[in-house]
Parts: sequence; C-alpha cells; structure tokens
Amino acid sequence: MTTMTKLLAPASLGPLTLPNRLLMAPLTRNRAEADGTPTPLMAEYYAQRASAGLIIAEAATPNAVGQTYPNITAIHTARHVEGWRRVTDAVRAAGGGGMFLQLQHGGRVGHPATSGLTPLAPSPVPLPETIFTPDGHRPAVVPREMTAADIRTTVADFARAARNARDAGFEGVEVHSANGHLLHQFLARNTNRRTDGYGGSIAGRIRFTAEVTEAVAAEIGADRVGLRISPGNTVNGIAEGETEEIYPALVDRLGGLGLAYLHLVFADPDSPVFGKIRAGWPGTLVANPVLREMSGPAIEQASARLLDAGADLIALGRPFLANPDLVTRLRLGAPLNQVRDRYLMYVGGAAGYTDYPTLAEAGANAQPSSDSIVAFDGPRVA
Ligand SMILES: Cc1cc2nc3c(=O)[nH]c(=O)nc-3n(C[C@H](O)[C@H](O)[C@H](O)COP(=O)(O)O)c2cc1C
Repeated sequence: MTTMTKLLAPASLGPLTLPNRLLMAPLTRNRAEADGTPTPLMAEYYAQRASAGLIIAEAATPNAVGQTYPNITAIHTARHVEGWRRVTDAVRAAGGGGMFLQLQHGGRVGHPATSGLTPLAPSPVPLPETIFTPDGHRPAVVPREMTAADIRTTVADFARAARNARDAGFEGVEVHSANGHLLHQFLARNTNRRTDGYGGSIAGRIRFTAEVTEAVAAEIGADRVGLRISPGNTVNGIAEGETEEIYPALVDRLGGLGLAYLHLVFADPDSPVFGKIRAGWPGTLVANPVLREMSGPAIEQASARLLDAGADLIALGRPFLANPDLVTRLRLGAPLNQVRDRYLMYVGGAAGYTDYPTLAEAGANAQPSSDSIVAFDGPRVA
C-alpha cells in the first residue's frame, strides 16, 4: 500500500470514523468579530475545507484574559457558542468528517490593549518581543503571576469552554499546550519560576497541563479530547530545558486517561524525544510534519517517515490553508496552491482566506505558483 493510499483510508478516532487520515491543523486567522464570535465568512472557509479527515479549528480562548491577539476566536459566552454553531452546521452540511476546537489560553502572550486585562502567567516573566494589539505593535507587559485561586479558575474555565464547544456542535476539543502559550509556559523552565507545586521539578511543571487536560476530559469524556504539544519549540520566547524529560513525564501521567489523541507540532521522527513519546503514548499519535516544500510528493514523503516511525494521523496547516480541496488534489496528484500573502494569514476578510481556488475553479491548467513556501514563525501578525 502506498503512503498516499494509507493517508486516504478511513481511520477511527475516539468515537469518530474519519474519512481519511489528513487532519487540518489549527490555524489562527484573526477573522472573528472583536468579541471573538465567529463570522459567516468563517463558516464558509471551514465548509470549503470539509473534506479534511478532521478539522481542528483554530485556537479559541476559554476566558477573557486568555486572549492573545485582536479578532481571534473565543468560546466563553453564549454568543460565541451561537457563532461556532453556524460554523459546525456549515461543515456538517458540506459532508465534513468532524470538527474539534482548539482551546488556547495565551498566558503572557496577551496585552491589556487587546483584552483590557493584565495577562496571567506562571511567573512575572514578560514576552521578550513586541506584541500585536489593536493599536499596532506594543512592548509586552509583565504578566501577573497566577495565584492558586487563578489556577483553579483557569482549569474550570477550560472545562466550561470544552462543554461550550460540545454545545456548539464540535465533536471534541484540543487542549493547546504548545507554541509558547499558557500551558507551554508552565512546562518551560524560563517562564515557570514557581516554587509551589506547579513549578520546580518536572512533576511540578507538567502539573498544570495535566490538570487542565484531566478537567476537560472529565467534563466531555477523554475520548473527545486531544492534547497538542511542541517539544523543543522556541516560539514566543520559550526555552524549555529538559525537553527529553518533560514530555515523556507528561505522556506517562496522561497515558492512562484514554484521550482521543496526542498531537505533535513539527514532528521529527529522528529526534530522540519523538521515539520516547511514541514508546510511552498508548493512544493515537497525530504528527504535524516539518514541510520543506508544499507539494504532494513532499507531503507524501514527510508522512511516510512519520507513519513508519509510528504516527497514526497526519495534520497539515498551510497546505489546507491554501487548498480548500487538498484531499482531492493529493488523491489526483494535482499541483497545490501555495500560500499567496503572508500578511493575509493573520488579518483581513475574504482575500487570502476564502478565495483560494479549488482545482475545478482554477481550471484544467492549474499550475503551482512560483511563490516559495512561507516560513512559519508562530501565530502572530506581521
Ligand atoms: C496562519 C497560521 C496560524 C496558526 N495558528 C495556530 C493555532 O491557532 N494553534 C496552533 O496550535 N498552531 C497554529 N499554527 C501552527 C500550525 O498548526 C502548524 O503547526 C504549522 O503551520 C506547521 O504546519 P504546516 O507546515 O503544515 O503549515 C498556525 C500556523 C499558521 C501558518
């Protein structure tokens, strides 16, 4: 069986049967209303991509203080639930395989000019970069160290957000413990300087991610919950330290819970931590490959290495961003659209969002554009 045949074959995931093994990775696109409510344009965008095996919808914030950037989505009010309901209805009407919603708290990746609130973080260590706000780029502020009460409230907010996601028609949620956001800030040594039970030792540093995941699983059922991690990723000023101990310990703590999946960002099958995670994780492993080029053969090659190394499902971000009919194009061996304009990834309306053509729309002469692949350097606004 070729790798592409495997990728295009159905698979089961928790209570779901996926039509194929190609998952749409979460992609923040900053097209929500100012309060975080999804728009009709977002429903159109996701419905265009309904042929993904599973859509993991972009980061949604579980409470007001967790907001990272302007116009990102949220899932903590009745209005948010209604807005997302329109999105999940549209994807279902388009015959979609299913949708999970990513739950993301930004922690120190946030700004009072955006949320109206001082960001919360494990320790008062600011982001060493400017941050995009409605007033343009501003220096990051020193976040307030979370108290024990803040920790309890935040865990409860994640659980409530997961319930809201189910009410909005999502099949499940993905807990975001990657890419330098709040949960990753607890895992990393440079951002977690706590001396209580949520810092210091490896067991302390993984505790917050574990408790959030456990609370979300208790709320909606573990088989409807995924967890995203990015071992070694330095985006958003993260220096983990002990990468090869933290993640195996996390996998060990959560392995018995029966989660739907563990999702690895920029998964490198040759890295020692990949092998340790695969060996320790008893469930489904979703791998988001490092793509050097956006083409069918490059996707097939990267996926082959990951499947050989024990990954079960493959998540792709930019290929789905630029190709609403990615699955069809891969099935036919057709050329892929490239990402056209990096700026439009994180800002704007329909341009660079819902106007990427399908093969049929592009016509029989579709050719790959000459643009080279756009380097990913973290969800931010240029
Ligand atoms: C525009 C854009 C937005 C992103 N937003 C998120 C996000 O909301 N949550 C997340 O975990 N990762 C996010 N990422 C990372 C992607 O999920 C993915 O890991 C990354 O793009 C690498 O995969 P790819 O080479 O298939 O694009 C984003 C990436 C891009 C390009």
